[in-house]
Amino acid sequence: MRVLGLETSCDDTGVAVFDTERGLLAHKLYSQSQMHAEYGGVVPELASRDHIRKLLPLVREVLADTGTAPGDLDGVAYTMGPGLTGALLVGASIGRSLAYAWGIPAVGVHHMEGHLLAPMLEPDAPAFPFLALLVSGGHTLLTDVRAMGDYRLLGESVDDAVGEAFDKTAKLLGLGYPGGPAIAAAAAHGTPGRFRFPRPMTDRPGLDFSFSGLKTAALTVTQQHALDARTIGDIAYAFQEAAVDTLVIKCARALEQTSHTRLVIAGGVGANALLRARLTEHCAKNNVRLYCPRPLFCTDNGAMIAYAGVMRLRAGQEEGLAFGARARWSLMDLTAP
Ligand code: KG4
Ligand code: ZN
Repeated sequence: MRVLGLETSCDDTGVAVFDTERGLLAHKLYSQSQMHAEYGGVVPELASRDHIRKLLPLVREVLADTGTAPGDLDGVAYTMGPGLTGALLVGASIGRSLAYAWGIPAVGVHHMEGHLLAPMLEPDAPAFPFLALLVSGGHTLLTDVRAMGDYRLLGESVDDAVGEAFDKTAKLLGLGYPGGPAIAAAAAHGTPGRFRFPRPMTDRPGLDFSFSGLKTAALTVTQQHALDARTIGDIAYAFQEAAVDTLVIKCARALEQTSHTRLVIAGGVGANALLRARLTEHCAKNNVRLYCPRPLFCTDNGAMIAYAGVMRLRAGQEEGLAFGARARWSLMDLTAP
C-alpha cells in the first residue's frame, strides 16, 4: 500500500510518500518560519495562505521524485487536527479533493498520533507497548501506549506547553522565532550556575507539568539585568537546564510507575540535544531502551502523517466525502484502527 501524507497544521508544509513494502520513499518540507519570524510568532492567516501556495507544488515534486503516478497511490492522509483551523483546512480540502479525483480513500490523521508514531520511520522502531513523552509547541504529554490508538494519559501540562515556554522565553531574550533552537544555540555559550530556575511541580507527586512559572522566572531575571550577549546566554542556559531537568524527572517517575522498558520521545522539543543526551543517560542507567526519531522527524513533517495514515487506511479506516478540521482534539479520543 502506498500513501501520500500531507501536514499543514501549523507553519510547516510537509509532504511524503510511504509505502508498506519499501518504507518512506520521499519527504519534503517547506518551513514558513522565516516569514513568521518577522512577527515573533505564527500568524494564522499568513500560514493558511502560504500552505495554499506551497502544498500542490510540493506534492508534484514528491510524486515526481518517487516516480509515483496517481494510479500508484492507495490513499491520501492529511492532518485533520489539532492545529490552526485555516491551516488544517488547506491540507484537508486539498487532500480530500486529490483522493476524490484519483478515486482512492482519504483519512484524517491526528497530528500528535503522527508525532507518536514518528519513531516507526526509523530502522530501529520500538515495539508496543511503550511510554511516550510528546513535547511540541502545543502539547506536553506523558502517555502509556499499549498499541496504535490505545493511549492512556499519565500526565500533561496544566498551562503552557514546553515548546511554548521555549518560544516565549526566546522572545523575551530577543532571540526570535522559533525559540527552541534559538535557546539551545544561545545556551551553548551560557555560564553554568549564574542563574537557577525552578523545576516546576517536581517537588510533589504526580506526572503533570507546568511551564508558565518557568517563563515568568525568566521574565523576572530579564527585568533585573541588562540583556547583553553574555547574560542572554546565561539565562538561556538556566532555562534549558530547568526545562530539560523537569522533563527528565517526570519521565523517570513515569518509567518507575509503569515499569515500561521502552521510552519514546517525539515532537519538536524532542529535537533538543540536551534533552536527548540526558534521557539517553537516564535510560542507559535504568535498562530502558530510548527511541527518539531523527530531529527532522521530531519537528513537524509529512512523513509521520503518511505513516499514521497508512496504518489507519490499511485497517480499513477512511473518511467520507465531507472533510473537516478539528482545531482541538484530544489524543485520548482516538481508538484502535
Ligand atoms: O512538533 P513541532 O514542530 O510543532 C508543533 O506540533 O507544535 O514543535 C514545535 C516546537 C516549538 O515550540 C519549537 O520551539 C520547539 O518545538 N523546538 C525545540 C527545538 N526544536 C524545535 N525546542 C527545544 N530545542 C530544540 N532544538
Ligand atoms: Zn507538531
